[in-house]
Amino acid sequence: MLEVRNLSVHYQGAIAVDGVSLAVAQGEAVSIIGPNGAGKTSLLRAISGLVPYAGDVRYGGTSLLGMRPDRIVRAGLVHCPQAGELFGEMTVEENLELGAYTIRDAQRTRDAMERVHALFPQLWDRRSQLATTLSGGERQMLAIGRSLMSQPRLLMMDEPSLGLSPLMRDRIQDSIQRIHQEWNLSIILVEQDSALALEVAQRVYILDSGHLVKEAAPETIAADATLREVYLGVG
Ligand SMILES: Nc1ncnc2c1ncn2[C@@H]1O[C@H](COP(=O)(O)OP(=O)(O)OP(=O)(O)O)[C@@H](O)[C@H]1O
Ligand SMILES: [Mg+2]
Repeated sequence: MLEVRNLSVHYQGAIAVDGVSLAVAQGEAVSIIGPNGAGKTSLLRAISGLVPYAGDVRYGGTSLLGMRPDRIVRAGLVHCPQAGELFGEMTVEENLELGAYTIRDAQRTRDAMERVHALFPQLWDRRSQLATTLSGGERQMLAIGRSLMSQPRLLMMDEPSLGLSPLMRDRIQDSIQRIHQEWNLSIILVEQDSALALEVAQRVYILDSGHLVKEAAPETIAADATLREVYLGVG
């Protein structure tokens, strides 16, 4: 479904992503883990058309190279950014409506709103509240909900558990699993929380200093003492 070929991102001469190739099959959930500064966000931003890159990204057989970000969203590839990037002075409902800006069909937008409501009832109760006044967990639900409003086929999430309490982290994990298993979306999950990354994904990529260092099933990574020590933060 998605194929990233030899992708590199440079910022003013410094290289953030260095020749990364990866693939995501239809209906698959993959995680990308790696330390701060590994290039995870840069990789997602390149796939979404938000930063220039070398190499190629193919989605459903079409190259996305040079395609405008809004067209990439319309094609079904949606990026839920790190820390949400919500419109703080707008209400929950307005933020959700903005998520549907690429959908020009009122019925489809209403259907999407109902599905987000069913996924996050607590968020729906707060639909008239300004985004800036939400708790961290509610903000993350809104960020995911807004991404879902654009009706992705492949959803890329950048550190959705960042800064959340254990309880809220578990709820976010639950919602990601529902989005994958019940909604049948393909998922790319970028996470520092490696336990979450390994639980949700069928395959895991490890990115370090812009390079892919490993691609394996979560069980394989969890069973590897060296990888555990270096990347999972447990001995
Ligand atoms: N707009 C930018 N201009 C210059 N350098 C940048 C820019 N964005 C990121 N970088 C650099 O690129 C490298 C990779 O950053 P990136 O944000 O992709 O890493 P990350 O894996 O997402 O890290 P984190 O886990 O902390 O979010 C870092 O060295 C960072 O300083
Ligand atoms: Mg990042």
